[in-house]
Amino acid sequence: MAERFHTPPPFPAARLRRARRTAPLRALVRETGLSPEDLIWPLFLLEGEGRREAVESMPGVERLSIDLAVEAARAAVGLGIPAICLFPKTDPAKKSDACEEAWSPDNLTNRAIRALKAEVPEIAVMTDIALDPYNPAGHDGYLKGGEIVNDETVEALVKMALAQAEAGADILGPSDMMDGRIGAIRGALEEAGHRDVLILSYAAKYASAFYGPFRDAVGARAALEGAEIKGAAKGDKSTYQMDPANSDEALRLVARDLAEGADMVMVKPGMPYLDVCRRVKEAFGVPTFAYQVSGEYAMIEGAAARGWIDGERAMLESLLAFKRAGCNGILTYYAPRVARLLGG
Ligand code: PBG
Repeated sequence: MAERFHTPPPFPAARLRRARRTAPLRALVRETGLSPEDLIWPLFLLEGEGRREAVESMPGVERLSIDLAVEAARAAVGLGIPAICLFPKTDPAKKSDACEEAWSPDNLTNRAIRALKAEVPEIAVMTDIALDPYNPAGHDGYLKGGEIVNDETVEALVKMALAQAEAGADILGPSDMMDGRIGAIRGALEEAGHRDVLILSYAAKYASAFYGPFRDAVGARAALEGAEIKGAAKGDKSTYQMDPANSDEALRLVARDLAEGADMVMVKPGMPYLDVCRRVKEAFGVPTFAYQVSGEYAMIEGAAARGWIDGERAMLESLLAFKRAGCNGILTYYAPRVARLLGG
């Protein structure tokens, strides 16, 4: 886009500070903005009724029972937030090597989707497709002989996707990084008549240290750190998630997922990968999202709690950065707080 630049005349004809002098002048020349409509709110679910549970490593974030998630969704609509994304904390007794709970029509996520679609039809409901909340090994795919097996996992993911679509999900979010899953899911959705279900592919998802608090929130951390896997350390998903050193590969993954039928794509984590967001948006021009993940949230909140940074300003600045980088929207645990602040 550099060719669009007008070279400023020499000083003093150009004094770029002129337009920064007052708040209204700055508002007038502002290039990007943040609105509640840019937000997808990730919500953690737990069993029961009238129950809320703090997530210790994410101050201010709670797991909610379905009835309270419905209330939260209603509040989100009032704040102008267009979508929520559901993540279940599965009862350990329901985890199994075959991960059958993942496609049970009555699992926590699918019951929540039905309740939300019945009670708060104004909000779009997004889901996560990966086996980690259901897998005793804590991994996103089946662990066999020390490896995360691809094709068997994709078969399970397809069943999971169909169950979520059947329950009424608007947007499916495959976050597992297996090969071939977008095509398989899209084909199965078409065949089952779910023609209008969107796929927001976690296309460029990196093997990141910033997911730690999320793994606490869904109860997958201990299992993951105990699982032996070939080619990676315990607790490390590097045999399927991306190498943080790569960015061309992100473009190949996005191209691949779009060709297989994804409607929208995501880069994850967010702030350490803004360069990737920018490249994806410029290369493809498709709806592009970033996930400001649990560890990014925890860093800002941790520093703010100690008085080391101004938490509110850091929140706004971090979210605006995604818009500046070209993202259409952001998955963020800050969604309700920032929407309230923006006057939604
Ligand atoms: C798992 C999944 C993860 C997140 C969303 N889906 C964690 C992982 O890959 O280990 C991370 C979200 C966050 O850290 O906020 N399929």
